[in-house]
This record gives sequence, structure tokens and C-alpha cells, in this order.
Amino acid sequence: MSSSYGLVRFLVVILLLQFAGMAQQNPAVHEAGSHNIPTQIPGRDAILMGAAWYPEQWPESRWEEDLRLMEAANLKVVRIAEFAWSRMEPSEGHYDFDWLERAIALAAKHHIISVLGTPTAAPPAWLTQKYPETLRVEENGQRVTHGNRAHGSVTSPKYRELCRKIAEQMAIRFGHNPNVVGWQIDNEYGYALMSYDDLSRKLFQDWLKDKYKTLDDLNTHWTTEYWSEKYDDWQEIPIPVGGHNPGLMLEWKRFVTLEWDDYQRNQIDVIRQYAEPRQFITGNLMGFFDGFDHYVITKPLTFASWDDYVGSGHVDPDRNGLTHDLTRGFKRENFWVMETQPGAVNWHAVNSFLNRGEARAMAWQAIAHGADDVNYWQWRSALNGQEEYHGTLVGPDGTPVPFYDEVKQTAQEFSKAENAFRGTTVMSQVALLYSYDSHWAIQSQRHTRNYDDIALLESYYRDLRKLSQSLDVISPYAPLETYKLVVAPSLNVLPQDLAEHLLEYVRNGGHLVLGPRSGMKDQFNGLLPQRQPGFLVDALGGRVEQYYALEKNLPISGTWGSGEVSTWAEQIKVNAPDAEILMTYGKSNGWLDGQPAVVTHPFGKGRITYIGAVLDDKHMTTAVEWMVKTSGVTAAFGPVPDGVEVSRRVGAGKQVYILINYSGENRQVAFPHSMKMLLQNKEGASADLPPYGVEVLVDSK
Ligand code: GLA
Repeated sequence: MSSSYGLVRFLVVILLLQFAGMAQQNPAVHEAGSHNIPTQIPGRDAILMGAAWYPEQWPESRWEEDLRLMEAANLKVVRIAEFAWSRMEPSEGHYDFDWLERAIALAAKHHIISVLGTPTAAPPAWLTQKYPETLRVEENGQRVTHGNRAHGSVTSPKYRELCRKIAEQMAIRFGHNPNVVGWQIDNEYGYALMSYDDLSRKLFQDWLKDKYKTLDDLNTHWTTEYWSEKYDDWQEIPIPVGGHNPGLMLEWKRFVTLEWDDYQRNQIDVIRQYAEPRQFITGNLMGFFDGFDHYVITKPLTFASWDDYVGSGHVDPDRNGLTHDLTRGFKRENFWVMETQPGAVNWHAVNSFLNRGEARAMAWQAIAHGADDVNYWQWRSALNGQEEYHGTLVGPDGTPVPFYDEVKQTAQEFSKAENAFRGTTVMSQVALLYSYDSHWAIQSQRHTRNYDDIALLESYYRDLRKLSQSLDVISPYAPLETYKLVVAPSLNVLPQDLAEHLLEYVRNGGHLVLGPRSGMKDQFNGLLPQRQPGFLVDALGGRVEQYYALEKNLPISGTWGSGEVSTWAEQIKVNAPDAEILMTYGKSNGWLDGQPAVVTHPFGKGRITYIGAVLDDKHMTTAVEWMVKTSGVTAAFGPVPDGVEVSRRVGAGKQVYILINYSGENRQVAFPHSMKMLLQNKEGASADLPPYGVEVLVDSK
């Protein structure tokens, strides 16, 4: 990587940030389309904290006290109404929004803004009774009954019509309400559950017909000569329920994605028609949930948000940080944490409580990774209903539980530090590529049950994040030119257009690192008629001769030292004279003995590296050290002690660093130079952090 490339990138970033800074002072520039931060609400704190509140579950006489307690805890956001359909439309076509309007107004009186959820994850009993086709059919052919949630059928036209109507009525009523800042569509997209009925099947078949045009084309791409899978009529094509043709399975996932996208657009369009443009529209996603392609789903949203739950045990800062970065990468924008757990959930194997201070660390980690809002789910448990045991901020008696004070402290800190975060976002030199097509392709044919592509992504993340201290997780199709290093741990589906995109990046000076199983499949989930990495073989100057699922670990040695690989090993053959073998297998199954495991090759102005095995932790560390050094990646902050996470957010003329101590012990962190510590309110060149300790540093140099 040339140093001039780094300099150009740096200058571009600075210019962009200067422009963003100007935009903040000058609304005209804003309107001219400069990069604003859509997650930050004009006229409000740049970072916010809130809770899910269900006024419909309580007598109106109680609301004031709830809101008073929220205000006292410095909460500034409520998300409301996402399960209140039966209250808002008690019978078909009869709407009652007066109570909601009063709740929003009362919240505003306590300086709390409202996000309205459309209630479509919980259609009322009158609706499903009158129109039984709106209820989902499960894989076993049974129609679900009323009384849970996510029971609507995403493909039912009647259901769509009724969803649109309630969203429309809400938008007409609240689209201009100054205290409503935005919308959440549905709730967790009904977990992307599909209805396995005749209509869904017909829609899937029609969609395939539209996509492939001819059955010949479909049969060719899915190689249906295999096992007599050949289709002579579109109506013969089934909904896959497992164990089906890989082409069919991947297309079903894409169809599911588009159905949910269509489902949300049905509501988004009508909200946009009536709501002021200042009101955002988001959807609450679920991290690595893989029911649909999140890059597609988040396209029509103003920004992405997600529900950050630990479940049993304690927060794993790498996994949680990775999931924040994944969410930020959906739209390559800041995001919101729409829900997070107030201590404990009620749905895990052991619903253990977070340690004291842990939730505060989690909340700050969200901000550190680009969130501008963190909301607790939920304010108070309904006295009956499926979630009686879930964590809350107030108890069944309506008074604060011990956890309330931790939220209050964190929310006060948010207010204290908010100005530093205004106009800031995360900017990284390194990107990890995550593709739903590749994930689904591997999931449908794992070859070894031990190959977990998300765990592998995480193992790359751990060391890359530690060394670079700032990392993006993005779609392989995202623009790559600003990155010094791009790593694709399992880019299994790698069609020609994607290969071209990656090659362009490498030709212009980027360093692309591919992990095992990369470049094996086309867009139909079929094998490419080349060896791995498919269209990148020439650029790599080598190819995969054979892959092996491993029963036990294998020795490996070379530039990154000696150690072991597990799970998966690929035997690579080098063709180009200037391709360099970095690692070689030791004695193993005979086939792999002495064969290349890792190869790197200069290409254009850049470099392409292929790692054909799952590295052990020690090797991952040395491999990442090599990648970072070879690509000229620099750390965002500088050395920090083990167990301390440092993150950076960048804005016009300022850099904000967030330090979080996850080590369980006291840690002292030395800064590169003196900075302002916002939480301790002093200037200095080092900070002492107790376990779960947090500090926010502003560097205006
Ligand atoms: C999900 C839902 C919430 C609630 C929480 C409980 O995230 O969106 O309605 O059920 O889980 O943890």
C-alpha cells in the first residue's frame, strides 16, 4: 500500500468532515445534501437514552408518575404503540388515537420525545377472526392461533391492506406531531416468519418466473438433471423446508427478503405520504438474525436500529462490538439500539442478571460503535402477559428497581457528553465483508458441522479490531476505496460482478484478504466451473486444489510462526512466480503434508491474500499483525491495556475516544497526549478505570 494512497484518503476524510461541520452551522448547506447524521434529532441531545413504554397497559392516572420517573432518570425517548393495535383500532375501521395523543403530549411535557411503532406484529383478535387468511400457516401446514405475536401472514393481501390502513391512520394523526420524531415499522419484522400456504407458494413461483423467464434457464442454473429435480411447470416448484436444492434454497431466502421488504414498504410509503420528512423511519433488527438480507431490508429506512440482548451470562465485548459494527454497516450510517436488556431477559436458558455496571458499559459501547440512542426494554412489565419476568426499570408496584439508578447515572453521563458526539461517526481503515448469500450458502451445505462462518468472522474481528481500534463490517458490494485493508473470511458466493468489484479495489492499491471457502459458488448457489477463488484465481496467482473438513487439528508453520489449524483446510497451488507462500501444512493426512495453506500475491497497485484454513487464536493474532502491517493500517488511538476497549468517533475538527474496561480489574490507560476527560471532567494524559469503568475523551488537536 503506497503512503500517497493513505494521504489521499486522509485528506478526503478531513474534507468530508469539514463539510459536515459547516453543514451543522449552516442549514442551507444541510439542505444542499451534505452528510448529516440522521440518527441525531435536531434540537435534541446528540446521544439519547430511553425506554419502551406501554401506556395502553395502564390506567391513564398512572402515566404522569411513569413519565416523572423517566424524566428524573434523564430518559428522553419513549417508543410506544407497537403492540397497541386493538386499542388503536378496537373494531374494523374505528380508530381511537386520542389516548395516544394524550400520552405523547404528556411525555413531551416531561421533555420526552416519542417514536411510534406500527402495531403490525400483533394484529387484534377481531381481525384474525374475521379474516382467517391473515394468520400464518406453519411449515407443518397448521394455521397459527391468536394470542401470541408475529402471527400475521406477510403474503396475505388482506393483511397487507389492513396493515397499510392502520399505518396510514397513524401517519395522518401523528405525521405532523412535533413530539413524534420517528417511526418503527412492525416489531422485529415478525422474525421474518413466512406463511407456508398456497398463496406464498404461488407468489414464490411467480417471482421465480419473473426472474428466470424460462424454466430452461432455471433448470440449467439449478442443475435439475440431478435427482430428477427438473421442472416442466412453474407450479411444480415447492417451498423448500430443508434438504432441498441449494439454488432453490437460496432463492427462497431472497424471496423471503423481498416479501418482508415489500411488507415494510407498504407501510413506509403510506407513512411518507402523510408524515413530515423530519420524522425518521427505522425497523428494529436483531444483529446476526439471518431470516433476510439486511442490506436489502435497511435500504428504504432512514437508519438501522437493533435490539441488543445478551440473554444468559455476560456481555462478550467482541461479539457485541461486532454486532454493533454489523448494524452500522447495513447502511454505513450511525444507528440506534432500539431495545436493550435492563439487567435480565425472560426468554433465555438461564435469565441471569448483568453485573452491576455492566449495562452502563454496554450502553457506552453502543455509543462508541456509532449508536446515537439506547432504549431499555421495557419500562415496566405488564401485570400479566408472556413477559412478566423480564427486566424492567420499575417494579410491579410502580417504584424504581435497583437497576434504575444505573440507568439514571448512564443517562446523565450521556447528557454531559452529548455535545462531543454531535456530528460524529465511526471512520475505519479496515473493513470486514459479510454477505448473506455466502452465509446462507454455507449454512445449507456446511460440510462440517464445526464450520461456523459467524464465529470465523468474529475470530478475524477480535484481532483486527484490537489492532486497528476501528472496524467496519459491510456488504462485499459496498464501496471499498477508502479502506486500506478488506477482509472476507468466508466469501463463498462470489459471482463475476462481485469479483470485478473486488479486483477494482485491489488494482487501485487495496489489500484484499480472503478466508476459506471463498470464491466457490455462483449467484445460484451452484459450484463455479473454476477452482477457488473462482474469478480471482489469476489475481491470486494460485488456486485451491482440494478442501478438507478436519476431524482434528493440523500443524502449520511459516511466516506467522508455527501452530495449528482446525475445522477446515484447503490445499493451495501457486501458479505465479511472484506469489508468496506464507504458511505451509505440516504432516497431516498425506494430501496436505507440506502444501501451501496461505498465499499472497501483488496485483495491480495492491495485493490479494488467501488463507485456506481456520487459524488457531495464536495464528490469527500473528496473521492479523501481518495484514495490518502490510497494509499500512494505523491504530485509531494507540496502545491500551488488555481488556480495555477503545473506540473512536470522528467529527469536524474533533475526535472522541471512548474507553471501556472489561478486564474485571483496575486498569490505567495512558493517552497519546493530554485530552479532556468528559466524565471525570478534567484534563489529563491517563485515566484509571475500575472494572466496567468508562471514560470519554475529547481530542481537539
Ligand atoms: C424483543 C421484542 C420485545 C420484547 C423483548 C424481550 O426484542 O422486540 O417486544 O419481547 O424482545 O427481551
